[in-house]
Amino acid sequence: MDSLSNKRIILGVTGGIAAYKSADLVRRLVKMGAEIRVVMTPAATEFVRPLTFQALSGNTVHSALVDSDAEAAMGHIELAKWADLLLVAPATANTISTLVQGRADTLLGAIYLALNAPTMIAPAMNQAMWHHPATISNLETLSRTGVEIIEPDRGSQACGDIGLGRMQEPSQIVDRVAARFHSEILLGRKLVITAGPTREAIDPVRYISNHSSGKMGYALAAAAVEAGAAVTLISGPVDIPPPDKCLLINVTSAEDMYEAAKKACGNGEIFVSAAAVADYRCIDISEKKIKKTKNVITMSLERNVDIVSRISTLKPNLYVVGFAAETENLIKNAKAKLHQKRLDAIIANDVSRPDIGFNADDNEVFWITKDIVKNLARDRKSRVCREIIQLIAAAFDEQKAAETSEEQTG
Ligand code: PMT
Repeated sequence: MDSLSNKRIILGVTGGIAAYKSADLVRRLVKMGAEIRVVMTPAATEFVRPLTFQALSGNTVHSALVDSDAEAAMGHIELAKWADLLLVAPATANTISTLVQGRADTLLGAIYLALNAPTMIAPAMNQAMWHHPATISNLETLSRTGVEIIEPDRGSQACGDIGLGRMQEPSQIVDRVAARFHSEILLGRKLVITAGPTREAIDPVRYISNHSSGKMGYALAAAAVEAGAAVTLISGPVDIPPPDKCLLINVTSAEDMYEAAKKACGNGEIFVSAAAVADYRCIDISEKKIKKTKNVITMSLERNVDIVSRISTLKPNLYVVGFAAETENLIKNAKAKLHQKRLDAIIANDVSRPDIGFNADDNEVFWITKDIVKNLARDRKSRVCREIIQLIAAAFDEQKAAETSEEQTG
């Protein structure tokens, strides 16, 4: 089953008997690696105690719309910004109608309005309520606006009726949630991604490096896996766990990274160079630790191989995406690198800003090709990288289609 690691999910629990199943849902989502924040409507707290969800999710449960303590910790706007997905399970007829009307008189309603992430709902109600024209029309409205409806099950209901309206089983809901995070836009495509810094030795204990944490390259690898790609992640030394399901190759120096990338790109289709590769290395690496005897020492450095540039020359059929880490003239310098390094696209980020770029959790980038300059607004790296992967997939498909039509006409 697909993993949900690093996915941030708000679980909205509303006031129906099926709320007891939401406890199992939290347990399953957490087991798959998701981080869960539970938001309960006041009616839901009549069915299950918030403490149950707090214990299972490991986080405080949110329920009041106006709560100064909660607002100080994580208010409704912050919660909405935090989430990768809002899942409402069970979703009662009343909550469904609240969402349709866009009412913000409950915490859940306010979060839904402020959300910049997908919403899924798992309705649960009496079978007559489920078939009522008002419910049918409300669900159609939500569906039209992109809310995914997890259809209820048929069976005997708490009220004694038999029919459609039982909330879908937690295992089914979890499968649908996992599927929501996965697409097939790069299905079967072979991607090679470099990430993190390189280290160039000075002596056995010292090295030249930079501030790259690997977060950007690792988030790209995770997004590519979600999109169905077979990913080889070539990583410099970092302190973060690798995403699931990619082939991780650890390297240290630029030379190691080049050798690994050249080999992996041998049967790759797309190469993304997110690593902050050291441009220079020491000509003479001291075999012994350099002693602190002189006030001034001089080191001679030589240029490292330009990995992305060399690989785009060696493999002209590879779709090659570089990065540009700039502190001034962002777009102009990135366009120059796009051209000089013979790249298909380049992703420019301003590394003079402390809130984005090196070692930050967020990034704001520009996707640049020979025809396009597109801004991807500041957001968490995981989200920015999902957008980048969509752009790469679309551009790669376009290039393949153009090559096919050229072959047919020529
Ligand atoms: O790792 P994080 O902390 O999350 O930070 C992310 C990041 C800032 C490192 C990332 O977003 C980024 O900008 N990566 C590229 C860093 C860089 O080296 O940029 P550059 O402008 O110096 O190099 C241009 C391109 O050439 C890059 O694709 C780089 O990988 C590549 N390059 C550079 C030098 C070299 N010897 N070989 C290369 O392949």
